Amino acid sequence: MKTALLYFSGTGNTKRVGEVFKDYLLEKKHNEVDMIDISTHRQSLSNYDLLIAGTPTYTMTSSRNMNDFIQMYVNKTNNPKAQFITYVTHGWGHSYGHLTLQEFITKLGFRVIGAQSFLAPSNFYVYNEKVQPKQNEVEIRRLYEKITIDVKGLMDACLNGYIRIEKKSTFKKQQAKLISALSRKAFINQFSAKTLSVDGDKCTRCLVCVKKCPNKNIALIDGNIRFSKNCSACSRCMHICPQNAYAYRGKTFEQYNMNQQSISEQLK
Ligand SMILES: Cc1cc2nc3c(=O)[nH]c(=O)nc-3n(C[C@H](O)[C@H](O)[C@H](O)COP(=O)(O)O)c2cc1C
Ligand code: SF4
Ligand code: SF4
Repeated sequence: MKTALLYFSGTGNTKRVGEVFKDYLLEKKHNEVDMIDISTHRQSLSNYDLLIAGTPTYTMTSSRNMNDFIQMYVNKTNNPKAQFITYVTHGWGHSYGHLTLQEFITKLGFRVIGAQSFLAPSNFYVYNEKVQPKQNEVEIRRLYEKITIDVKGLMDACLNGYIRIEKKSTFKKQQAKLISALSRKAFINQFSAKTLSVDGDKCTRCLVCVKKCPNKNIALIDGNIRFSKNCSACSRCMHICPQNAYAYRGKTFEQYNMNQQSISEQLK
């Protein structure tokens, strides 16, 4: 079984959950598993049997760039046997993203055999600590232990021929889609330009944030970091800066990045 693990990940959670799927498949001797970061991959996919597609949750739905990627690079002619599993990571409460992604993929004519949301560490504390305060390492570890158990449950079912879709209220899913579309128009595109700033004394002009922004929304102009209006609010830039030079609405913050956490190593 040839599997593609398609993921977008701003701060590392969704990628890490993708690795949990991969570990499961390798343990079951399904050795052909390709991890594909959709923010950098620019080639059509062929001959996959299973595609597992995961994004973070933004305003209760999945990240739009996954829809664009699948539409552009995955078609039935090149992947005649392909079936999908969709997942999202989210920081609190409910997410409908696994279902909005399922809906989109089903409309393209693919069969979706699994869909699930996973509660992961939240990176939203920078914007609103009341919604979900920053979790400590013990809490993060517990969340990932639960995710590992849930991935196993989902995959055991799907690989044994069952369809396993985590159901949610259809009305709330539609509501989430509407709120997400409105917020994208009203705010998200301009998120970094309106709320982020960089401390020129801390910034070493290393260009890490410029190169890592998935939307090419950041530039160094006359020695200063500047943002355009093509942001997706993925939060990667502010958490990846080696100098922690970013501020949100003028306030500095403690960074979160699953890719850089020691806990990420311990979990492997
Ligand atoms: C702009 C933004 C909006 C978010 N909206 C939600 C949300 O509506 N519901 C939720 O549970 N988590 C929300 N989150 C939290 C993220 O979905 C969560 O931390 C996710 O695991 C991040 O994945 P990543 O590390 O792969 O980027 C939001 C995060 C950001 C940055
Ligand atoms: S500028 Fe926007 S899209 Fe680019 S990394 Fe920062 S938050 Fe993400
Ligand atoms: S990553 Fe940080 S230090 Fe590097 S250019 Fe961006 S703001 Fe400056």
